[in-house]
Amino acid sequence: MSKKLSIQTLCVKEYRDDKHKTPHQLPIYATSSFAFDDIQQSADIFAGNKDGFVYSRYGNPTVDIVAQKVADLEAYGTGLNAYGFLTSSGMSAISVLMMSLLKSGDAILTQEDLYGGTTELFNKVLVQLGIKIIYCNFDNMDEIEHTIQTNRDIRMIYFETPSNPVLRCIDIYKVARLARKHGLWTCVDNTFCTPVIQQPLGLGIDFVVHSTTKYLNGHGNSIAGIIISHHEKLKNQIGTSLKLIGATCNPWDAWLLNNGIKTLCLRMSKHSDNALQLAQFLNNHANVVKVNYNGLAENIYHDVAKTQMKYFGGMLSFEVQGNAKTAIHVMNKLKYCTLAPTLGDVDTLILHPVTSSHLRVDKKVREANGITDNLIRVSVGIEAVEDIINDFEQALK
Ligand SMILES: Cc1ncc(COP(=O)(O)O)c(C=O)c1O
Repeated sequence: MSKKLSIQTLCVKEYRDDKHKTPHQLPIYATSSFAFDDIQQSADIFAGNKDGFVYSRYGNPTVDIVAQKVADLEAYGTGLNAYGFLTSSGMSAISVLMMSLLKSGDAILTQEDLYGGTTELFNKVLVQLGIKIIYCNFDNMDEIEHTIQTNRDIRMIYFETPSNPVLRCIDIYKVARLARKHGLWTCVDNTFCTPVIQQPLGLGIDFVVHSTTKYLNGHGNSIAGIIISHHEKLKNQIGTSLKLIGATCNPWDAWLLNNGIKTLCLRMSKHSDNALQLAQFLNNHANVVKVNYNGLAENIYHDVAKTQMKYFGGMLSFEVQGNAKTAIHVMNKLKYCTLAPTLGDVDTLILHPVTSSHLRVDKKVREANGITDNLIRVSVGIEAVEDIINDFEQALK
């Protein structure tokens, strides 16, 4: 064929790889569209009569394979068949799910101490679409039930456990049971735990979302999210919303996520061991007034955490003696730990919530939920724990 084509055409022509069908590692399908052998094949795939890919916003082999892998992890051992949709970010996973299931006039029942971006999405974007946001105290099941009974528009209960940044632990099974009783959907943001630590679907939750940007990727080199469910009858509805909103994940980020997941079990166990040791050190330090970590026996959420979490995770937060200035001073003194507005990477990261992730959350709401000016959040890495502890020891002096 090359003899018949001009050199310009040969430059442009795509060569097909018909030989290598079984690469050891998942290939990155860096293509916006898929070519067809003939018009009949195209028509069959477009009509859904045959499996196949047409356009990467609708589906892409790299993206879809990784989505199914994460869904399988979330459903592992539960007996459920789950599916997943990878999205362009954790925020788009939450947005697409809500836009797909809710309409104007519906309400979401949620907690006040969510990731700040989620609170903003609810209060600034979903509210504009006519979706109401109702907050209540998720430590109190009676309050949740009373709120449901007095607000007939509630369709969805959305929560994070442990929450960001005060690690409030919510009883997943009890909330799921209550939601079922009243015919409501439930969604848990499982970003902090990953399925290695906690599996909300197995406790009766309908939808799980993640910012896979965090622990699932683990290396801080991709932004993506995922929606997971086992409700087969909603698969098409959610998939169609994602396709039309266009918040699809790209194959490069999906591939990086896949790479990270291979060490997920090892990482989550080490993150949790290190976090427990750092929490114990901080808990005994004279300049620390409070440590939020569910692994500490005296933590008010310890018993709930033990029933639903395999380990206690890598996230903790603590209040230094003093005010915002003292907290910032301590953070500036840390020599090894990195100040970065993310979490779940292999290295230890610190963040001052009131000047970053929770800056736009109302001060009164922050204070009522323990997000104080002197609070420091730590995403404890997988380094040698003595190096992390030594860094905090010298900074707290
Ligand atoms: C718990 C939680 N959920 C969702 C998000 C949003 O994720 P992304 O930044 O991937 O959109 C974040 C981001 O920090 C988060 O911490």
